[in-house]
Amino acid sequence: MMKIVTIIGARPQIIKAASLNRAISENFKNEISEVIVHTGQHYDKNMSQVFIDELKIPQPDYNLNIGSASHGLQTAKMIMGIEQILLKEKPEYLILYGDTNSTLAGAIAAAKIHIPIVHIEAGLRSYNKSMPEEINRIMCDHASTLLFSPTLTGYNNLLKEGFDKDSKPRFTADNPGIFHCGDVMYDNSLFFNEIVNPKRNIIDILNLKKDSFYLATVHRDNNTDQPERLNAIFGAFDTLSLKTKLPIILPLHPRTRKLLNKNLSSNLLKKIKQNPFFQIISPVSFLEMNVLESHCNMIFTDSGGVQKEAYFFKKPVIVLRPETEWKEIVEQGCGIIADASKTDILNAFEYFQQVRNKLNFPNIFGDGKAGRFICQTILDNR
Ligand code: UD1
Ligand code: UDP
Repeated sequence: MMKIVTIIGARPQIIKAASLNRAISENFKNEISEVIVHTGQHYDKNMSQVFIDELKIPQPDYNLNIGSASHGLQTAKMIMGIEQILLKEKPEYLILYGDTNSTLAGAIAAAKIHIPIVHIEAGLRSYNKSMPEEINRIMCDHASTLLFSPTLTGYNNLLKEGFDKDSKPRFTADNPGIFHCGDVMYDNSLFFNEIVNPKRNIIDILNLKKDSFYLATVHRDNNTDQPERLNAIFGAFDTLSLKTKLPIILPLHPRTRKLLNKNLSSNLLKKIKQNPFFQIISPVSFLEMNVLESHCNMIFTDSGGVQKEAYFFKKPVIVLRPETEWKEIVEQGCGIIADASKTDILNAFEYFQQVRNKLNFPNIFGDGKAGRFICQTILDNR
């Protein structure tokens, strides 16, 4: 039996971890045992436990309960906690997802005590080092033994950084193996859309109609913390919802919620309160989010995961960032980078209103079996 330790911490990591966990219980029950460590980076029920329950991930074996703090303090506390667990559990691999501080902490803790790292969602780059995530993912990739890239762009980014496509097993931190294997979030999307979604009544609860509302999420630090950007984005939402008389639904990340009063102008805050189409709600569950994504007309987001899900559900997406790691979506014409410019957001919106029924969404995220491929590759490298 091979023991692995998986680190989760932020909302998207819990969601991503579901795919591998499912692949293990369906195909590798007798070969892989998984110990799950939650760093506690996200801790509100609707940012954490709801995903463990809905995506049927086992209750974590450990919860470090680190919570929120500055980057350095949060990451340092996580490294200390993860190191202790790794020394005790002695896994053959540490599994890390994405690019959060929980990912970075796991990478530093494991690399220093020579536990091989598996990085899932390797190779993604914004080429913008002012993003904390860009630092986290570069550091993690360069400490990893097995790197699994969801897209060809991600795989090619690794080649540009000197990873060798011809490296041969047995892979180690000094001879890493890189793989283009599809996206574990796409695995989830296919799996959960085959079941009857028990949360589909969210449409009625929110009094929405199919194709007649917009969906938006905003949580990146450069959007939440810079008043000019936050005002431009929320100003665009206010304008377009009033103009079309269709609701815009914002399941708002707690980070953004806490900064609205501080960073939005009093004039815009007043307008939003008076706008019956501007609906700020609490973060929703994964299955609720899937219903909103699949029923909406268009998506506005600065989230990585929501950009992809927009594509899975064949919805145009307006990206509220200066660049994206999910280049394929933009190249395919299904996403437009509007950053935090009110004019660009409104222009992109007008454009997609006209062409949305003519967009094509060819499959670029794998075959829905990325989790299974990753498990098999880890086992083959023993
Ligand atoms: C983190 C990740 C980001 C990811 C996002 C997913 C880093 C550097 N950033 O950003 O890459 O896209 O998660 O959602 O790791 N808060 C709560 N309750 C919670 C969690 C957070 O109120 O359960 C609030 C706290 O005020 C906290 C703030 O949100 O200070 C930011 O949380 P943090 O985990 O530091 O970063 P995110 O912005 O969530
Ligand atoms: N998500 C959710 N409820 C919400 C907002 C997002 O379930 O209210 C899900 C979304 O469907 C996707 C993931 O969270 O699967 C994306 O995570 P997030 O936007 O927090 O982080 P990112 O992907 O940008 O790192």
